[in-house]
Amino acid sequence: MPATPPPVSPPTSPTPPPTLSPSPSPTPVYPSPTPTTPAPPPASTSTQPPPATGLKVGYYNDKCPDAEKIVLDAVRNATAGVKAGLIRLFFHDCFVQGCDASVLLNKVAGKPEPEMLGIPNLSLRGFEVIEAAKKKIEEKCPGVVSCADIVAFAGRDASKLLSGYKINFSMPAGRYDGLVSLKDETLPNLPPPFANLTILTQMFAKKGLSQTDMVALSGAHSIGRSHCSSFRDRLQPPAKDNSTTSMDATYAGKLTQDCPAGSDPTVPQDYKTPDVLDSQYYRNVMDRKVLFTSDATLMTSPKTKELVEKYTWWLIGDFLWYRHFEDAMVKMGNIEVKNSTNGQIRKKCGFVNEPYTG
Ligand code: HEM
Repeated sequence: MPATPPPVSPPTSPTPPPTLSPSPSPTPVYPSPTPTTPAPPPASTSTQPPPATGLKVGYYNDKCPDAEKIVLDAVRNATAGVKAGLIRLFFHDCFVQGCDASVLLNKVAGKPEPEMLGIPNLSLRGFEVIEAAKKKIEEKCPGVVSCADIVAFAGRDASKLLSGYKINFSMPAGRYDGLVSLKDETLPNLPPPFANLTILTQMFAKKGLSQTDMVALSGAHSIGRSHCSSFRDRLQPPAKDNSTTSMDATYAGKLTQDCPAGSDPTVPQDYKTPDVLDSQYYRNVMDRKVLFTSDATLMTSPKTKELVEKYTWWLIGDFLWYRHFEDAMVKMGNIEVKNSTNGQIRKKCGFVNEPYTG
């Protein structure tokens, strides 16, 4: 059974998590969508097209041979819900400051608030899995394996396990951990659930990802859960038209029951196979039984619609999607990767290493 985050009350000022371990997730209330087309997000201060990286498959084979196995074991021990959380953690890490584990940095007195306190990150889960893997790895090979690589391996392993090994690929490694983490960089870089196709396409393109990558990665919404607050705007007024992006009326009615006013529980993202990473998501998109505008909007251009439809084709659809998903995960893992000149190997994933003071 997926771990259901506890029901939570609307956030006023979320309490900063004291350590890397996740806090009870406060409700991720995004700034309201405008009723017409939302304005494009402000330009990010950190986004650059991804550089050519020197990442390598098997990077730790000689430096720390057990590293990937330790991560796999830690992910195996997690619930299906936490596994889903780990795939999202990788996405949220890579889209803000690049894949550098900046999402793991805790609040430190006197410093600006870190990414993990940004609205889209308040519902992240899986931090404890990264922490457990890092602890074991540090015991074997101190100061060698970056937290950024652990996040990337964990996202890859969670995809493998939740898909029943249908998704199975090598994740290049050699990332360094970042030194900067800013809450203010989350909303401009992480797409909101009410984003339309134009905005989504722009936000992925800024990270060097194509529309094909975007449609393939959106298939991760075939697992895990969402807070009602992330899609409540689509339930009211009740869906009654059959337009491309409206929600199926019966599905909307069911969600309205599951999301009583005044509370913010979570619901599965895929109502049919909630714990399996499969192409059911694309059938749900076609049936208008998906939670977010960002899911439904994939049917609004000929190219993205064609991909959605192809991924549901009998026999070959699944296969095509698995391969596109694998490719897109590797590509996402290349975003703005740090090296020894602008990063470090953290000792603890929640904190930048203390400078040596003599
Ligand atoms: C296309 C733009 C995307 C938008 C707008 C979006 C938005 C969201 C939102 C609002 C939630 C629910 C959060 C909550 O209310 O608790 C969610 C959950 C999730 N997302 Fe996305 N997402 C996007 C792309 C992705 C990508 C690229 C991945 C990974 C490859 C991903 C993986 C997930 C997973 C696994 C969950 C469930 C997490 C859990 O159960 O803890 N999403 N997403």
